[in-house]
Amino acid sequence: MEKLIIKGGRPLFGEIEISGAKNAAVAIIPAAIMASEGPCNIDNIPNIEDVHCLERILQGLGCKIKVDNNSLSIDSSNIMSLDACTEDVRRMRASYYLIGALLGRFKEARVELPGGCPIGVRPIDQHIKGFEALGAKVKIEHGAVIVKADKLVGASIFFDVVSVGATINVMLAATLAEGTTTLENPAREPHVVDVANFLNSMGANIKGAGTDVIRITGVEKLKGCNYSVIPDQIEAGTYMIAAAACGGEVVITNVIPKHLESISAKLIEMGAEIIEEDDSVKVKSSGKLKSVNIKTSPYPGFPTDVQQPMSTILSVADGRSIINESIWESRFKHVDELKKMGANIKVEGRTAIIDGVNRMTGAIVKATDLRAGAAMVIAGLIAEGTTEIEGIDHIDRGYPNIEIKFKALGADIRRESI
Ligand code: EPZ
Repeated sequence: MEKLIIKGGRPLFGEIEISGAKNAAVAIIPAAIMASEGPCNIDNIPNIEDVHCLERILQGLGCKIKVDNNSLSIDSSNIMSLDACTEDVRRMRASYYLIGALLGRFKEARVELPGGCPIGVRPIDQHIKGFEALGAKVKIEHGAVIVKADKLVGASIFFDVVSVGATINVMLAATLAEGTTTLENPAREPHVVDVANFLNSMGANIKGAGTDVIRITGVEKLKGCNYSVIPDQIEAGTYMIAAAACGGEVVITNVIPKHLESISAKLIEMGAEIIEEDDSVKVKSSGKLKSVNIKTSPYPGFPTDVQQPMSTILSVADGRSIINESIWESRFKHVDELKKMGANIKVEGRTAIIDGVNRMTGAIVKATDLRAGAAMVIAGLIAEGTTEIEGIDHIDRGYPNIEIKFKALGADIRRESI
């Protein structure tokens, strides 16, 4: 086990490069299973534990995997097993994409129910509704989802809630169904669009990803392709918040500024300066910021995955901020940890009321989940004295080389074995 040790109080200066998007990569890698001939060569893959987990899962199914720095080659032409029931599958949320991918290509699969961050109930009823609409029989037995279809036939599906996972999963299966599928009320996140673009590179016919209606015309088969994953909106947002909170001047490269607009708008409202270029953003900040209110919502709204890092910066902003978390029912577990460092936050259900304090102080804290971990790193960077963060395996699931990247910006941060 390892921990991060941070001596806070330093401004951040310099340039940092954002990695490929975790939540795109963890869908694109299972989607590569659907290519019946030729390898998928995928670039800009983030070096994170969730990706390594998926590599092991795909190898277990019979895929041939080659890793070269940030590139991954996946050859799925000789898949031997349609049964994904391992510890790795149970550990991560995105393993549910194996259901849609295997169902699409082989018309059957058995996949253990997914795990992931403990941020509230995480149902998959909308995924199941979509698979059933395409003609699959779905049952849950001994903790695994079992899906089977004689054939998949396109259908019109209206999602009751906006779900990233259900949109992508049903899109995967529908890609190899007969006829046309329409997905209404789909998620419009950049990673949904990226997965659709990846599938189209493999020979799929998907139109409208990123809009209110996605139309998928089924094709007979998919083949390997060359593809590069989009930059990570959430990793970029996390570094933007860190730069604004610590003060200084940081250029964040390999980003799509359009994907960051909701985050940039809030940081500007707080008093930071954000300068957008074609594929970078510069954050300039004195570190002295004003309070703002935030309500998380599906894209293009303020992303729930940036809510926890944002609560750290608001802890030292001048005045009262109110955060309303509308996506997950239990995404304030990090608040007790922030309080150990002097934050003044009251949680009432899905609302956090934050009264900004003048200073936070270093303490021994833990990362309760992935983005909670990012929130604690930012807290350590702004706090007086030393902060030790335990449970950093959560952080390693989604942030590549976090201490190396922050160190390059002048932070005093190191990793130690416990
Ligand atoms: C994805 O989770 C992300 N994970 C999450 O990021 C992110 O918080 C979330 O989308 C929202 O943006 C991955 O992409 C691997 P949802 P997902 O289905 O797909 C309800 C991170 O930090 N719902 O969009 O599981 C659900 O309860 C992670 O990187 C149903 O009711 O989320 C929630 O309230 C954490 N029925 C809302 O929809 C369903 O069948 C949105 O969930 C599915 C979801």
